Amino acid sequence: MSILVTGGAGYIGSHIALALLDDGSDVVVADNLSTGLRALVPAGAAFERVDLRDREKLADLMVEYGVEAVIHCAASTVVPDSVMDPLGYYENNILGTLTLLQAMQAGKVRRLIFSSTAAVYNPEGRSLISEHENPDPVSPYGASKLMAERMVRDMAVAGDVDFTILRYFNVAGADPMGRSGQSTPAATHLIKVAAEVACGARSTLTIFGTEWPTPDGTGVRDYVHVSDLAQAHISALKSLDGPAHNSTLNCGYGRGSSVRDVIHAVERATGEVLPVNVAPARPGDLAEVVADARALRRALNWKPQYDDLDVIVRHSLEWESKRMLSQLEN
Ligand code: UD1
Repeated sequence: MSILVTGGAGYIGSHIALALLDDGSDVVVADNLSTGLRALVPAGAAFERVDLRDREKLADLMVEYGVEAVIHCAASTVVPDSVMDPLGYYENNILGTLTLLQAMQAGKVRRLIFSSTAAVYNPEGRSLISEHENPDPVSPYGASKLMAERMVRDMAVAGDVDFTILRYFNVAGADPMGRSGQSTPAATHLIKVAAEVACGARSTLTIFGTEWPTPDGTGVRDYVHVSDLAQAHISALKSLDGPAHNSTLNCGYGRGSSVRDVIHAVERATGEVLPVNVAPARPGDLAEVVADARALRRALNWKPQYDDLDVIVRHSLEWESKRMLSQLEN
């Protein structure tokens, strides 16, 4: 099968491209490299530098590569940035999805896996978040993804697309074979930051808030390994004519880990104390965000291989030290 991966030069998209290639598919990556890196596009995938708002070029690509399915990951994804630049986020994430859908319609490409996010929920006060919760996004980022989801569903009602929407929780870790990993400069995600501190690229990890109503007072999240997440896309594609058809599924393990759990996992992996300090919670932070992930396992027969915080942290550390070594060599 020939599959177009938008955003395939990014952290998650590159892992999806790798998983597709490992599974024997042909892969075309479409990415404007605004945040993605050409070096993350796996060898074996075709690469086209294209902006999603360029409908004609996208439509041409569909024909040129005989695209049979699209995995749409390209998006702006940083919540605080979306608060500062809502229109930029609406343009990139809503208009970008609209033109992609138009190009699919023109090329009669029906199969779509769409990357969405837990940021469509407002989980305040709930312990496990299921797909049945009414979405109520707090940020422009979440709102832009929710509107894009809506377009996908409406297009399915009109009979033009078969979809699975995957709502990611906290994606972390790196390819176990070291072929890709989180490479965004100035990343803010906890496990990435902790790995940078452990590797000496930052001096300390700041714990944002120690008085949350959680067992150890720090924020709790459902960290899902990026390679397990990538596999969920493959499973969704394979189940698109069956149980995954036109469904919306949370992607997490259904298990929460606190900031302190992450710190302890890093310390176990390195054998060293991680330098930390404490600061007030960030605006908009939440106590606990954990997926009710039963539907994903049921619908996709998804069998995660790396459902272990120690493994996620170890792979992140391995990627971070590899990155640092290659920077030293250059
Ligand atoms: C972020 C996004 C969210 C996205 C999710 C998964 C924001 C505000 N939210 O969520 O939309 O769905 O990633 O990609 O960008 N923490 C620290 N110190 C740090 C960094 C984080 O204590 O240096 C804590 C946070 O307070 C939180 C937890 O670690 O309790 C996770 O934070 P982070 O990795 O930034 O992800 P989220 O904010 O959950």
